[in-house]
Amino acid sequence: MRTHLIRCEMNQDCDGIDEVGRSLREGQLVAFPTETVYGLGANALREDSIRAVYEVKGRPQDNPLIVHLHDKKQLTEVARNIPPVAYQLLERFAPGPLTLVLERSPNLPAIVSAGLPTVAVRFPAHPVARALLKAADCPVVAPSANLSGKPSPTTADDCLEDLAGLVPYIVDGGASEIGVESTVLDLTVQPARILRPGKITAEDLAPYVQLDERSLSEREQEHPKAPGMKYRHYAPEAELILLEADDDDEAREVLEKALEDCEEELGRGARVGLWLPERLIDEAQDPLLKLERASYLDLEEATQGLYAALRNFDRQGCDRIYAFTESEEGLGCAYMNRLRKAAGGKERERS
Ligand code: TXA
Ligand code: MG
Repeated sequence: MRTHLIRCEMNQDCDGIDEVGRSLREGQLVAFPTETVYGLGANALREDSIRAVYEVKGRPQDNPLIVHLHDKKQLTEVARNIPPVAYQLLERFAPGPLTLVLERSPNLPAIVSAGLPTVAVRFPAHPVARALLKAADCPVVAPSANLSGKPSPTTADDCLEDLAGLVPYIVDGGASEIGVESTVLDLTVQPARILRPGKITAEDLAPYVQLDERSLSEREQEHPKAPGMKYRHYAPEAELILLEADDDDEAREVLEKALEDCEEELGRGARVGLWLPERLIDEAQDPLLKLERASYLDLEEATQGLYAALRNFDRQGCDRIYAFTESEEGLGCAYMNRLRKAAGGKERERS
C-alpha cells in the first residue's frame, strides 16, 4: 500500500484535509496529529475499520479504544446516561487532553470498547485533528499511532517509521505539544478513578469531581481496570534503566557509577543512551564517543521529548539507556508513569 503524507500547518486551512476526512469516514485508516501524541484514526461506526486498526497495530483484542469527537453534540451518539459532572468537566477541559469513560451507547459497535459496556471519549484540541474530525463528520477511534508496544509517536516521521506501507494516509501537523497520552478518567464508578495520568492532573480535576484517593499502583495491584494498562507499553528496544537521586551531587555520583558499570561494554562497542536534565549533561564525559546524549530543561520538556528520545536512542542502535527519575508531583505523575512502563520495572537500587 502506498502511504500518502499530507502536510498541514497548525493554524491554516489545509488543502486535502476534507478529502482525507472523507476517506476516513469511508473506512480508510488515517494517522493524524493531536496535542498529546499522534493517533491512528478509523470510523468508530465501522466494525471492519476498527478491526483493521487492531490488526495494523498488532494490538491485543482486549484493549479498548478512545472515541474522538469534535462537537459536544456528538456525545449522546456514543454514550448514554451521561452524568452532569461529565458536562462540567468538558466545559472546563474540552477540547483538550482529557478522556472520559462513560456508559457506551448501543449505536457503537462493541469492538470499539473491546466488548466493555463503557466507552472512552475525548475531544482533541489540535486544530488539524479538529479539522479532520469535522471533515470526517463521524466519531473516530484513535489509539496512539505506534505499533503495539513501541513508544507513542509524537511526529509524522515517527508514524512513518511504524506505519509506512500499512496505512493510506499520515497527516503531518508538527510535533505534539504535550508528548504523553491524555488523562483517562472513569466516571462510571464512584468515586471517579484516574485510569491513566496525563497533563490534566488529579489536582486539576479535584474541584469538579470526587476522586478515588488510592494511588493508581494500589488499585492496579487489586485488579487492572483499564485493560490496556496491564501491557508493557511505551518500550524502547534498548534496555532502559532508571537512576534515582535526591540532589545534583548525588545525581553526579549515581551517573558516574552507572557509566563505570558499563565501561567494559562500551569498550566492546556497545552504545549507551543518556536522557538527562540539561544541568547534568557535562557530567557525562564521553572519552570513547559511545554515548548518545539527549537532555531536557524542565519537566514539561522531559514529558514532551520522552518518546522522541527513546525512539531516537533506538535509531542510534543503543543497547542501554539511562534516565533519571523525576518527582511525581503534577505532570511528574504522568511522566514517571510512562518512564516506569518503558523501563519495565528496571530501577537501580541506591547504593
Ligand atoms: O492522548 C490520547 O489519548 C491518544 C491520542 C491519539 O488521542 N490516544 C491514546 O489511545 O492514547 P490508546 O489506545 O493508545 O490508549 C487508550 C487508553 C488505554 O489505556 C485503554 O485501556 C483506555 O484508554 N481505555 C479505552 N477505553 C476504555 C474503557 N472503555 N474503559 C477503560 N479504559 C479504556
Ligand atoms: Mg497507546
